[in-house]
Amino acid sequence: MRVAKICLAIVSFTLPLFLSLSFSFAQIPIDDDIPSRTLDSVLQDYAFKVFSKPKTGVPYDAQLPNSLIGVHVSALRLRSGSLRTRGVEAYKEFQIPPGVVEQPYVERLVLVYHNLGNWSEKFYPLPGYTYLAPVLGLLSYNGADLNAQKLPELDIRASDKPILIKFHDVKSAPYGSFPKCVYFDLHGSVQFDILPSDNICSTMQQGHFSIVVESNAPTPAPAAVAATIDQSGGKKKFNVWIIVGSLVGGCTLLILLSLLVVRLVKIRNGMKIQEMEWRADSNETLQMTSVGGTKAPLAIGTRTRPTIETDYIP
Ligand SMILES: *[C@@H]1O[C@H](CO)[C@@H](O)[C@H](O)[C@H]1NC(C)=O
Repeated sequence: MRVAKICLAIVSFTLPLFLSLSFSFAQIPIDDDIPSRTLDSVLQDYAFKVFSKPKTGVPYDAQLPNSLIGVHVSALRLRSGSLRTRGVEAYKEFQIPPGVVEQPYVERLVLVYHNLGNWSEKFYPLPGYTYLAPVLGLLSYNGADLNAQKLPELDIRASDKPILIKFHDVKSAPYGSFPKCVYFDLHGSVQFDILPSDNICSTMQQGHFSIVVESNAPTPAPAAVAATIDQSGGKKKFNVWIIVGSLVGGCTLLILLSLLVVRLVKIRNGMKIQEMEWRADSNETLQMTSVGGTKAPLAIGTRTRPTIETDYIP
């Protein structure tokens, strides 16, 4: 059936589109849904608490509660002009070249460093992959108010050379496997990149970084996809299923409707044919004659005269 085929074609072409849309949904920042974003906010608070009379350009290590043993956090306060013109030669594993600018503009900013240590997998689960290094983070905040809590991040971008992350103590990858750089942006999306042999990853933006290798156990790709969507909460997944559902539902309705239309057309055609057959059968053209102003059929006489079957003469 043609309509069904067209419908199937529409569904099979648009379904991948919607699935890819679900990726862009995953990039919509609804930060409260992502546990790692709550952690970012908590760590910002602890990082800012280390400043009493902070010297500009000196990193301070934060004191974290016992519930976060294994995580390391530092804070570095800078003039934005100095970041832009000179960069930071070495801030823990990060090397920040000149040309990094923040949006919106602030006079002073604070770069908060994260090393998630053995908590990396808990906050950045990556099914199908094994971490060879801890997840490291670099996030930027307005440094105007050092008592501020729940500060939104500034947007920093390298404009010229990339920011480099030089990982120490990287576990060796299993023989024959290829380690990759992994990058998590602040909105829950994940990107992979090839890892040069010297264990240095690069980025133009802030976020979280690590080195991973694909786990031996063959895991289907959809697991990673589901994880990406899951990270940004069930709401968007729900949205996608509503769209897919209504698409399939709409198509089914369309097929049913077209079946009905086809049926009706068939019935109508059948009636026409019957009428035509009936006309042909009757095979009688009546002579027309004018009566007054209108034309009317005129029967001159009957062709077969009635005959009495049995001559009955009383
Ligand atoms: C990380 O290690 C510390 C001890 O070194 C432990 O207290 C903590 O529970 C560990 N965290 C996780 C997520 O395993």
